Amino acid sequence: MKNSTYAHLFKPLTIKGLRLKNRITMAPLYLGYAAAGGKVSPLLLYHYQRMAAGGAAMVMVENASITPAGSGSPRTLRCDHNRYIAGLEKLAAAIKSQKSRAGLQINHAGRFAFTAEPVAPSAVTAFKRTPRELTRKEITTIARQFASAALRVQKAGFDLVELHGGTGYLLSQFVSPHTNQRSDGYGGSLANRLRFPLEVLKRVKDAVGDFPVGYRFLTDEWLPDGLKVKESVVLAAALAENGIAYISAMGGTYESFFLPEVLRRSQRPGYMVSLAAAVKKQVTVPVITAGRISTPARAESILKTGKADLVGLARPLWVDPLWPVKARRGQERSIVHCSPKCNACMELVMRGKPAFCPRWSREHRTAYRELFR
Ligand SMILES: Cc1cc2nc3c(=O)[nH]c(=O)nc-3n(C[C@H](O)[C@H](O)[C@H](O)COP(=O)(O)O)c2cc1C
Ligand code: SF4
Repeated sequence: MKNSTYAHLFKPLTIKGLRLKNRITMAPLYLGYAAAGGKVSPLLLYHYQRMAAGGAAMVMVENASITPAGSGSPRTLRCDHNRYIAGLEKLAAAIKSQKSRAGLQINHAGRFAFTAEPVAPSAVTAFKRTPRELTRKEITTIARQFASAALRVQKAGFDLVELHGGTGYLLSQFVSPHTNQRSDGYGGSLANRLRFPLEVLKRVKDAVGDFPVGYRFLTDEWLPDGLKVKESVVLAAALAENGIAYISAMGGTYESFFLPEVLRRSQRPGYMVSLAAAVKKQVTVPVITAGRISTPARAESILKTGKADLVGLARPLWVDPLWPVKARRGQERSIVHCSPKCNACMELVMRGKPAFCPRWSREHRTAYRELFR
């Protein structure tokens, strides 16, 4: 046992009454494993049970859509009707059976939605598609849909829900000066651009009571005219004041992920830690950081130096779900690492394909492929 080497990593933390056994969380990772139509599949159950079995304190399940019009792909999980609750119950139970806390991220993809007529705060073209500007009535409807979806997450037995305000999806489209060019009460000044996410949080909290609600947080868009840290931290402070359980800081959107400078940056270990550190200066709620935190030593150092309160592992845990237990047992050298130069999983899911990692053993890849339908 090498718990003392990683004293910060294995220190429990309680968030809004929810005890986490250590500081390791799975960051949300959409891999295209849900059944076509967005239902929970046998592969998804198998996958998430494995993600939890290695000892992470919390597994945040990938984004699930709050309305079909806001879904990112045909294989994006759905949470927009009570008929999805039974499948989601199984998913929560699979994670909790491994003594990990189970969360589900809920989302509206806005201008990146997989639909003939995407909607967004403003008609700003992305990838040759121009979304339709939302009416005020539609904005209220979407806020209600977030609340109904959060209630389903709670009913399905998850321990918490996460609002997806990252990756350039709808919540962050309202905050960004690049995608929000409205002239009504939802656009223009920073206070106006923050209105929609704060309204969503209020409706969600009114619906779920003291159930923990976290936030995936776009800290910097990494676009010349995009959202910058100076503005985003104002939202962080407002979310904290309004009862958010934690903030999970990330950077970049689909419009910036593939820019040469951002591709270079995102190969570096801990490439989003500075974003979490900037958020942490503004809030007292726990802050999660993700982004190529490949070794337990790096995770420990981030926590020890107070740059974040928890680490989020997405690809590192997918490549080697035993990362946490290997760290705890002092077997770090046997951890299988995600390759910094590889971007295959992201490229595959963006082409609508399920992702299987080239770093896996042949048996492991076969097990996943056989369950994929
Ligand atoms: C294929 C892929 C799918 C992702 N899906 C989600 C998602 O559903 N929700 C989300 O908030 N972030 C998503 N992310 C971002 C990850 O949570 C994480 O921030 C990023 O991969 C960096 O962390 P890592 O180096 O630990 O993977 C995704 C990333 C990848 C590569
Ligand atoms: S090695 Fe490639 S496919 Fe595997 S997790 Fe890392 S980036 Fe994704």
